[in-house]
Amino acid sequence: MSTNTVDNTRKVTTARLTEMKQRGEKIAMLTAYDYSMAKLIDEAGMDVILVGDSASNVMAGNLTTLPITLDQMIYHAKSVIKGTTRALVVCDMPFGTYQGNPIGALESAIRIMKESHAEAVKIEGGAEIRESIERILCAGIPVMGHLGLTPQSINKFGTYAVRAKGEAEAEKLIADAHMLEEIGCFAIVLEKIPAELAKRVASELTIPVIGIGAGGGVDGQVLVMHDMLGINKGFSPKFLRRYADLSTVINQAVSSYIEDVKTSDFPNASEQY
Ligand code: KIV
Repeated sequence: MSTNTVDNTRKVTTARLTEMKQRGEKIAMLTAYDYSMAKLIDEAGMDVILVGDSASNVMAGNLTTLPITLDQMIYHAKSVIKGTTRALVVCDMPFGTYQGNPIGALESAIRIMKESHAEAVKIEGGAEIRESIERILCAGIPVMGHLGLTPQSINKFGTYAVRAKGEAEAEKLIADAHMLEEIGCFAIVLEKIPAELAKRVASELTIPVIGIGAGGGVDGQVLVMHDMLGINKGFSPKFLRRYADLSTVINQAVSSYIEDVKTSDFPNASEQY
């Protein structure tokens, strides 16, 4: 096979993502939190599955990503890994497991890799968590950075509005992105920042830049599975494209089942022993 031919059966690795950026092939990334959905998403050909700490919102019903624990993230990642053969599986490091404590960060990342078998971790932040990222990288654990809107800092921001619209914050984001590349991160997520800024970062870095609400000038896109499948319809930011209306499909299916049980239509003669 020539080096320019895309092989959709080959296992995705961090090196392969770099190759994809080099040949201009966009990277598709989506969240998953359990075995069954991970299997469907992997079979559809996803490049990267993110076990996001958005599990705190969409799986556990919390208002923010802050409450989810390391044990809970490991549980989700372990389930996702069992359903995945091709995609690279990246697990978010939850709030409180890496900030201001490089040794604790390393211990948490090692637990994720050892207990869940995830293949990389994602961490929110720039210069302020540099030592934690370096410590994790030293252990041979691939790290994906995350800049822009970093939901674990919602109490500092006070809002989920677009970040880095002003010059100072944009300059810091550019500097942080270069720093993350220099210390050895294999990719970066840019969340909810102006498209022009994201495009500039993607063009200046050699590692892949994956956007969410960061426009089309980056190397790939990530969405939260429940949002793009229309399971969670209460969240409708401008950047979100819905690919299905599963909440309606599920509501209709469940309503039909209830109706069939109540009317004794289910089970019928062929549905019993
Ligand atoms: O937790 C998550 O789902 C994420 C994505 C929004 C990038 O971090």
